[in-house]
Amino acid sequence: MRLLVCGGAGFIGSNFVRQRMARSEDEVVVLDKLTYAGRRETLRDVEADPRFSFIHGAIEDPAAVAAAIAGADAVVNFAAETHVDRSIAEPDAFVRTHALGTYVLLEAAREHGVRYLQVSTDEVYGSIAEGSFTETSPLDPSSPYSATKAGADLLVASYQRTFGLETVICRGSNNYGPYQYPEKLIPLIVLNALHGDRLPVYGDGRNVRNWLFVEDFASAIACVLERGVPGETYNVGGPDESDNITVVQRIVELCGVDSSLIEFVTDRPGHDRRYSLGSAKVQALGWRAETRFAQGIERTVDWYRDNSWWWEPIRSGSYREYYARQYGTRLAE
Ligand code: NAD
Ligand code: DAU
Repeated sequence: MRLLVCGGAGFIGSNFVRQRMARSEDEVVVLDKLTYAGRRETLRDVEADPRFSFIHGAIEDPAAVAAAIAGADAVVNFAAETHVDRSIAEPDAFVRTHALGTYVLLEAAREHGVRYLQVSTDEVYGSIAEGSFTETSPLDPSSPYSATKAGADLLVASYQRTFGLETVICRGSNNYGPYQYPEKLIPLIVLNALHGDRLPVYGDGRNVRNWLFVEDFASAIACVLERGVPGETYNVGGPDESDNITVVQRIVELCGVDSSLIEFVTDRPGHDRRYSLGSAKVQALGWRAETRFAQGIERTVDWYRDNSWWWEPIRSGSYREYYARQYGTRLAE
């Protein structure tokens, strides 16, 4: 197969590309805008493979998409703005990429008759106090991030129903693991702990997330790509759930720092209390999560400890300004 992977220079996309190239004969074309969250270095271990190529461009740019999709058998769309806090501060890029970008990709897929897989999120369902969401749960997003992701999902479904384009949607729970940008909870806490910096926990720290090791999400996407039924949506939940303070305390232990670094700070507006996804439908296709949180978090901490080449340029670049904006006042309160 020749796969067009949009957003393949980011966290989950790069893990997917690496795994797919190791486990199949596929050719992979990555189309990526290289926003603050995407970097060529993240793909450096597949760059030299003759089956790999890279195009620098945005999914909302029809010319870049036309060049990238030519000859592809399937599109896997990871490209997105992905941080909830940034969507609250500056929603503009979220609307542009998720609405316009998804539309441009769908039009190109339709024109070229290419199968389409949309990578989506549990956040489109909103918060759930007990039990787990299924694929038929109503969409009830809370943030500009999740609302625009829900809009993209609906657009994808409309192209299946109206134009007969073969589409599938994969909604994942919270991913963690190597190559995650340090604005997200786990890498932020790991890197702050390794530097002896304060560890900001929003609100009371009791918000619950359903943790999924990134390689398991990558294998679920491959499974849905190969065996998913066109027109269907598949939820992919992690095997373990945990509240944030428990996650942070475990990282504190693994990094060997003092828990007095933990600081409860002003909460995120509209903060969803709990996410939980039932995965029975994707499991019926043969997928299973292989990594429990207990092992995955150890591997993740070890990876950040051993790979400063990857995160040092981030921590010394524009991330510093973002961090000051997002946490300066919160940590000073
Ligand atoms: P990320 O922020 O690490 O990577 C996003 C990538 O998309 C980057 O390489 C960026 O340069 C690229 N990109 C952004 N806008 C683009 C555009 N307009 N055109 C082309 N490329 C663009 O994100 P991630 O965590 O790897 O998430 C990937 C996908 O998975 C997203 O669609 C996200 O909504 C979804 N998802 C993420 C999680 C999670 O926990 N991180 C969970 C479920 C679903
Ligand atoms: O659930 C899937 C989603 O997971 C993906 O769709 C998103 O792209 C991804 O960013 C992630 O969203 P969250 O908002 O759940 O992830 P984040 O890492 O931002 O936050 C996880 C939890 O930790 C959440 O309850 C907020 C809290 N938090 C986060 C940060 C950055 C803190 O307490 N302190 C922090 O500094």
